[in-house]
Amino acid sequence: MSKVSGSVIKDINLAPEGKLKLDWVKAHMPLLNTIEEQFKMEQPFTGSKVSICLHLEAKTGYLAQVIQAGGAEVAVCGSNPLSTQDDVVAALVESGITAYAWYNVTDEEYHEHINKVLDFKPDAIIDDGGDLVGTLHSERIEQAKEILGGCEETTTGIVRLKALDNEGKLLFPMMAVNDAYCKYLFDNRYGTGQSVWDGIMRTTNLVIAGKTVVVVGYGWCGKGVAMRAKGLGAKIVVTEVDPIKATEAFMDGFEVVPMLEAAKRGDIFVTVTGNCDVIADEHFEVMKDRAVMCNAGHFDIEVNKNDLANRAESVREVRKNIEEFQMKDGRKLYLLAGGRLVNLAAGDGHPVEVMDMTFALQALALKHIVEHGKKMEPQVHTVPADIDNYVAKLRLDTWGVDIDKLTNKQIEYLASWGE
Ligand SMILES: NC(=O)c1ccc[n+]([C@@H]2O[C@H](COP(=O)([O-])OP(=O)(O)OC[C@H]3O[C@@H](n4cnc5c(N)ncnc54)[C@H](O)[C@@H]3O)[C@@H](O)[C@H]2O)c1
Repeated sequence: MSKVSGSVIKDINLAPEGKLKLDWVKAHMPLLNTIEEQFKMEQPFTGSKVSICLHLEAKTGYLAQVIQAGGAEVAVCGSNPLSTQDDVVAALVESGITAYAWYNVTDEEYHEHINKVLDFKPDAIIDDGGDLVGTLHSERIEQAKEILGGCEETTTGIVRLKALDNEGKLLFPMMAVNDAYCKYLFDNRYGTGQSVWDGIMRTTNLVIAGKTVVVVGYGWCGKGVAMRAKGLGAKIVVTEVDPIKATEAFMDGFEVVPMLEAAKRGDIFVTVTGNCDVIADEHFEVMKDRAVMCNAGHFDIEVNKNDLANRAESVREVRKNIEEFQMKDGRKLYLLAGGRLVNLAAGDGHPVEVMDMTFALQALALKHIVEHGKKMEPQVHTVPADIDNYVAKLRLDTWGVDIDKLTNKQIEYLASWGE
């Protein structure tokens, strides 16, 4: 690893390749381009330090640079051991951002990097999955009391934040960026839907058409994964624990069965629940020979890897990001990307245009926190509707799509209770 002006990264010489990746996404992120111009003029983050824990690839890199363009000093670390792209990190360091990150960190290094971006003494944070917030509330309580606030990127992070909030222990305001319409409706659904299949296909080089795909969890991500699998010609089986989501899957035309039944039938399994052990020992026992499993939920806890390893006679890497577990009865089961987010650990994450919307929300929600954080309650806050609507409007404008406006009569009608 190399130390470069306060950063610890893989190799600064990778910066030219990373810059090319950053240039490519910048050319396809018109919303962030607009916000970058606004931030350059308004300098909303002057005098502020911002620490960011996100999947460190090009789109995130550009978000960090947009925040820097708004006057902040920025430090970054990865939110997953396998999603960091070392060339992008090198390019960020060259552009003046402090980074503690490299691909394939150990658990110890991951934890150390989280602490390093907190040693940076941020005024505000952007978190993805709640590891910054978790560390601040367990190991750095005094520092947590000084934080102005932050933004959370994903469903799992919001679940953890709400647990903290419900216990009355959250020490600063956090914006639930994941729960904005312009996030989950597009990022979780269309983003995960496309990028998960990109990750699976580029890793395995296998055909999807005709296969039985088991989608475990029919939330916003699961809906996207199932929708795109259908388009690729797969037969979809959904498993759920929520009767409403199960009803939705059924009426979307998919078969819904318990996991033990799905386990016998699936050729490809995608877990997207944010929950632990959704595929575990009893399921491995009945799976077909050469079944492929992967996860798109935030943590690598959805497929129980210990159970899988315990059942296996041998484990070997048969191709980059594919582990083969040879069962004692001769069956071979495959796990992609070590059970980590397949679209990020074995791909480039969501499509650029989708992340343009998500990161436009992140940038504007962060500005909101920096401007109003002192007056906000230490709770989980919804992204204000005007920010959500502004992002949708910007998105439509960049596509050249116009929509109708309510007439005064219509506004009055919608606000009235009479006939
Ligand atoms: N891969 C990515 O790029 C990406 C993007 C966004 C979100 N995420 C992550 O994906 C996960 C899901 O996010 P979401 O927004 O779809 O959440 P969601 O809450 O909308 O959906 C999760 C679904 O899983 C179901 N579920 C829970 N336990 C289950 C079980 N044992 N069996 C079957 N179903 C079960 C829930 O009922 C729910 O319908 C989270 O961890 C989130 O952080 C990943």
